[in-house]
Formats: sequence, C-alpha cells, structure tokens
Amino acid sequence: MDLPPLLRRAVDDVLEGTALSDLAATAEALSQRYRDDRHGAKPHAISGRDVLAYLAVRLPATYAAVRASFDAVAEARPDFAPKTALDIGAGPGTALWAAFECWPRLADAVLIEASPEFRAYGERLAAGLETPHVTWRVADAAIDTVNCGTRDLVTLAYVLNELSPTVRHSVLQRLWAQTADTLVIVEPGTPAGWLIKAGAHVIAPCPHAHACPLQPPDWCHFSVRVARSRVHRQTKRADVPWEDEKFSYLAVSQKPATQAGARVIARPRKAGGHTTLKLCRPDGSASDQVVSRRDGALFKRARKADWGSLF
Ligand SMILES: C[S@@+](CC[C@H](N)C(=O)[O-])C[C@H]1O[C@@H](n2cnc3c(N)ncnc32)[C@H](O)[C@@H]1O
Repeated sequence: MDLPPLLRRAVDDVLEGTALSDLAATAEALSQRYRDDRHGAKPHAISGRDVLAYLAVRLPATYAAVRASFDAVAEARPDFAPKTALDIGAGPGTALWAAFECWPRLADAVLIEASPEFRAYGERLAAGLETPHVTWRVADAAIDTVNCGTRDLVTLAYVLNELSPTVRHSVLQRLWAQTADTLVIVEPGTPAGWLIKAGAHVIAPCPHAHACPLQPPDWCHFSVRVARSRVHRQTKRADVPWEDEKFSYLAVSQKPATQAGARVIARPRKAGGHTTLKLCRPDGSASDQVVSRRDGALFKRARKADWGSLF
C-alpha cells in the first residue's frame, strides 16, 4: 500500500531539502522517547523536526494500517458512507486522508491534535484537498471537551497508548458518546470489553461479541505491506522497497455488521493441494481450517483469502 498520490507529493515537497542524516537521527530519537515514556501524563512536546521525521518514517505505515482498518469496516458495513468525521490525536491528518480515500463522500472533518507543529504540517499537507471541509483544533483530548456534536466516523489512531491509563476510559466514553455510527481504534491492544457493555456492535475484526479466544502470547493483529519511498529507504537505511506494518484495530458501531463470516487472523499458509487458514469464527472460536482442492469452490475462495479478510 502507498500513500495517495496527492499526499505523497505534498510530503515530498515538505521534506525537500531536509538532510536524510537529520531525519534518521530525529526519527531514532523520537521513537526512543516514546519507548522511554509511554503513557505520559501530558502529550509529548513535538518539534518541527520531529514532524518531518514522522512524515518520512511513520506516516506511510500508520496510513496503511488505518486504511486497512477502514477497508475492513467498509467490507463489514457496505452501507456505511460517513459524511462527518472526528479524529483524535490526528498527527499530520493520517486518518483524514485514509477516510477520504475510503469514503469519498466524506464532507466535514474535525481533527483534534495536541501539538501545534503537527497541526501546522497537517494543514499544509491537506491544503490541496478541496473536500472535505476540515477544522483543526489544538487541544488535549484527555481534558478538553470537543464540541462538534456526534459524528458518523470517530477515529483514534496510534493515540490510546500515549494517553495515561487513568484517562483512557473517560476518553473512550466521551468518544463513544460522540459516535453517531462507527468508532475505529487502531493500535496494538484494544479495549473491546467496556464498549460491548456500552451497547457497541463490534464490526471488525472480531466476527462475534464473545471473549477473545486467543491466549497470550498469541494476539490478534494484522499486517499491511507499505511501499517505501526513496527518502524512507534512505532514512531507515533499508534495502527492500517495502516494509510490513503490524497493527491491531477495533471498529465498533451503533449498528450491527451486514457482512458475516469468519476473519482470517494470520497469513494464509498455501501448499500444493491445500490452504490452511487461521480463522476467528462467529461462534467465538478460533482455530486452523484446512481447505483442500477437493473442496472445490471453497478452495478457490481460500486461495484468494488474505490475512485480515472475511472468509
Ligand atoms: C503516534 S501519533 C499518531 C498520529 C496519527 N493519528 C497517525 O495515525 O499517524 C500520536 C498523536 O497523538 C497526539 N496526542 C497524544 N496525546 C494527545 C492528547 N491527549 N490530545 C490530543 N492529541 C494527542 C500526539 O501529539 C501525536 O500527534
């Protein structure tokens, strides 16, 4: 998966003239800071250089993970066409771009971001987008109330782990109250339990509302292949023109999913005459299913199944 061409060009323009060695050093320092100080009480102070490093190194992967999560929502709810969106911890506007690519009828988005630097670059990147209408607000989602009414699509991408555990529950509670239709959280580790009690329908990835059948160290996650730009390759000193981004997500909705099926929760293993799919099923169970050539049409479907798709 690659960034939308308009975003790719806007990112390349912004990065023009920045020394790769500077981007690489800043990207490394930024991720070290995140590793050392996860769940800080306050959002991290972000500099302009941090944002440039994020654009070069992280944006392609977070975009791909958010977009893949939205694709799963669109598959489970083909009738869903959000017109309004709210994105919390918007960073450079990643979820806005992914939502607009997935649902081009999106007309109005409110983006909440703690860092003025991220907001400024996000606004600059989105300057070429004629629609949707975008309102940026610099605010701390842990304490500030967002007065924008309910929104068809509410997103929280790669933010939950940055919030202190003491405020996560109240932030989710407020976001769910503002969700007119669907709330999507992208992150490793997601808080499904509370939302189900609050009346949410899980529409992806779980094809059920039972307890997760996976036992640690197994965990429900997906992977998306992200194309690397030249700058990305050089910044990360990588040889191959792609990287695999592993991510978890949870999409819950006020309405149930319309597409049913089991979810493929690992990369399919294909051999000559059979394919093995690790499936999470509507009855709440999860295990491998071997589909052999003798299964005819089912085998053809299994051959086409992908990690993350419905089967
Ligand atoms: C890892 S970035 C993710 C950005 C974007 N959502 C993405 O997926 O690329 C986390 C973002 O959340 C913002 N953030 C963290 N805590 C926040 C808070 N309490 N209120 C608002 N924004 C916050 C950070 O400033 C940062 O831009």
